[in-house]
Amino acid sequence: MRNKKTSETLRSARWFAPDDLRSFGHRSRLMQLGYAEEDFRGKPFIGILDTWSEMNTCHAHFKERVQDVKRGVLQAGGFPVHMPSLSVDESFTKPTSMLYRNMLAMETEEMIRSHPLDGVVLMGGCDKTTPGLVMGALSAGIPMIYLPAGPMLRGNYAGKILGSGSDAWKYWDERRAGNIPDEEWLGVQSGIARSAGTCMTMGTASTMTAIADAMGLTLPGASSIPAVDSNHQRMSAACGRRIVEMVWEELTPDRIVTDGACRNAAIVAMATGCSTNAVVHLIAMARRAGVALTLDDLDALGRVTPLIANVRPAGKDYLMEDFFYAGGLRALMKQLGDRLDLSAMTVTGKTMGQNLAGAQVYNDDVIRPLSNPVYHEGSLAVLRGNLCPDGAIIKPAACDPKYHVHQGPALVFDSCLEMKKAIDDENLDVTPDHVLVLRNAGPLGGPGFPEWGMLPIPKSLIRQGHRDMLRISDARMSGTSYGACVLHISPESYVGGPLALLRTGDTIRLDLPNRSLEMLVSDHELARRKLEWKTPGPRFQRGYGWMFSRHVTQADQGCDFDFLETGFGEKAGEPDI
Ligand code: FES
Ligand code: MG
Repeated sequence: MRNKKTSETLRSARWFAPDDLRSFGHRSRLMQLGYAEEDFRGKPFIGILDTWSEMNTCHAHFKERVQDVKRGVLQAGGFPVHMPSLSVDESFTKPTSMLYRNMLAMETEEMIRSHPLDGVVLMGGCDKTTPGLVMGALSAGIPMIYLPAGPMLRGNYAGKILGSGSDAWKYWDERRAGNIPDEEWLGVQSGIARSAGTCMTMGTASTMTAIADAMGLTLPGASSIPAVDSNHQRMSAACGRRIVEMVWEELTPDRIVTDGACRNAAIVAMATGCSTNAVVHLIAMARRAGVALTLDDLDALGRVTPLIANVRPAGKDYLMEDFFYAGGLRALMKQLGDRLDLSAMTVTGKTMGQNLAGAQVYNDDVIRPLSNPVYHEGSLAVLRGNLCPDGAIIKPAACDPKYHVHQGPALVFDSCLEMKKAIDDENLDVTPDHVLVLRNAGPLGGPGFPEWGMLPIPKSLIRQGHRDMLRISDARMSGTSYGACVLHISPESYVGGPLALLRTGDTIRLDLPNRSLEMLVSDHELARRKLEWKTPGPRFQRGYGWMFSRHVTQADQGCDFDFLETGFGEKAGEPDI
């Protein structure tokens, strides 16, 4: 690609080139760091947005990877600047990291806009960091490349392979059933997360980094490389080299994240057995790029895309490390062939089709051919009905097929705490046919849209050997979760969605093949209940939460802040002074 930028037209030149007092100040401050003029004059400034934190154990290796990126930037003649960013960790943040995805997006956009950067390397991976960084950088609009943290190694205990999240729930149910002694439980605890890197099931982290890869925002296949593999270091340095070239080529994200790229990302998500969270983030990311991706688009793609990544939790046997050895995301995308828009532009400056040339599957039990899928349809289905007029999500491949069509009485909980207390009560009046319902767990009600949607099976049923039942909520669930869980009911109950009107004992009917979720209650009765319904009190009285409550959109819209969406007001220009 021919260079379009020159040293004089770099964005950073506005800060450093003029012979005036402001620029003198900027240059003298770089010299404070020990740099000489020849270190930075006329070179592309590359921001390395790094979400390292000791509270983000998935990104433990980022301290070293920053050095690899810097090495690459310097080799290519750029000037690297390390900019630590909000870490948004999944493991420790209460009530939920989702409350802060948009905060990271705002920080990313504003840090880019306000600083002398010509291009950015976005370092993320743990669930919300991928959409947060990408959303912000899309709005900022300068060249960017995404550096995915990579999955951690397989878990291991006593010769058994352990998968992040999924096996934690599984072993926990066995422990609740009285089948796991302390020593074994401790062994699982110490073996389930044994290296730096993101959850190594096809949870939200692996789903979202695969989505960034499929959108053309990472070096080809970068999302599959395990965090501690030396390939990951080489990929990091290559990101540093490539972003400098992207600046000269003026390869901005609006040329990459097009309609075709968003579609590619959605198809790949479906084929990988993606986390249910993909829906919310994908819609939000697409909308930042001005692409109007909807729940119905995702359902349509889900119906025609077979699930071919045999990776837990939707797949049976393997984890991300196996997926990498089997050829990784490039191999999976190669299988999808011309279902994808192969003409889509990517960060390499080449098309997706060119990036996939030569990709191969090395283990066709891990990455299946289209003719032998793990599941005949894609990962997600969108439901509608009088319980969820604006939609709800289910992951058919991850639930017992006997629940695909199910009718049963509702057992309704108004809060997570109430549910937690009741669920371990051995005398709880519940049968395997009941439908467990949790409400006030959506974007506003949670608050922040927590991952409470895989409601625990009541203890009395666990003891009888039951391990799945139909559960519905306006919450999300972890990408590593599984089971017959209907999620993201929109509008949520907290804002008066019909879920707020449901009562214990009402009959609920799920018909997955027909994509419907209904409560068998008459319109007349629902109208009567609506009159009795009272708006709950505010969740936040001040601060970030207060702002969040006023501006977050519902699940079907991607839960972005309304004022950050593309098309809300005029695009901010460059700072003028
Ligand atoms: Fe970080 Fe799962 S906790 S990716
Ligand atoms: Mg998660």
